[in-house]
Amino acid sequence: VLGVAAQRQDARFTVLDLAEINLPLFDEPLPPMAASYCNPHTVEWARTIDSFDAFVFVVPEYNHGPPAALKNAVDYLFAEWNDKAAGFVSYGVEGGIRAIEQMRLVMAELKVATVRAHVGLSKIDDFDELVTFSPRDQQQRNVSAMLDELADWGGVLRGLRESRIADPVTP
Ligand SMILES: Cc1cc2nc3c(=O)[nH]c(=O)nc-3n(C[C@H](O)[C@H](O)[C@H](O)COP(=O)(O)O)c2cc1C
Repeated sequence: VLGVAAQRQDARFTVLDLAEINLPLFDEPLPPMAASYCNPHTVEWARTIDSFDAFVFVVPEYNHGPPAALKNAVDYLFAEWNDKAAGFVSYGVEGGIRAIEQMRLVMAELKVATVRAHVGLSKIDDFDELVTFSPRDQQQRNVSAMLDELADWGGVLRGLRESRIADPVTP
């Protein structure tokens, strides 16, 4: 996905690997909507997410939903996600689509606009022996289609956030 994304001129992309970021289970005393973070790992995660306009979530399907580590990382923050865009690449036996449907509902609560185009990688058809990544040709086009929509919405929402900073009394 990064290989396809890196060829674009309209945005820059960075991988955030949750295994490296290694957040503990949510451990803030107040809900994220209070915008009062105590723990250094929360402050650091908030700074990281605040610095991006849009997100591509790469999501395996676990029991028809997203994995707990991803939900935990999302739940840590609130304002840093608001009025941004997200797209999805999922993988699982049937393309991981059910995990993405759940993610869309979670994102709605965080005021993240999720683009329609999405990439569902099948463990059967896009991996050899269920392990080695070997995507069908169409998947590269699907990634580009998803990134096109993400760049559009990410740019528009960036403008919205910037106009609020410039004119904070406008609702
Ligand atoms: C706890 C668990 C639950 C899973 N549930 C599903 C599932 O509901 N549907 C599916 O297609 N694959 C399911 N899988 C298979 C994973 O999607 C697949 O192994 C995927 O490669 C896991 O990605 P990861 O190795 O990056 O965690 C499950 C795997 C695990 C570990």
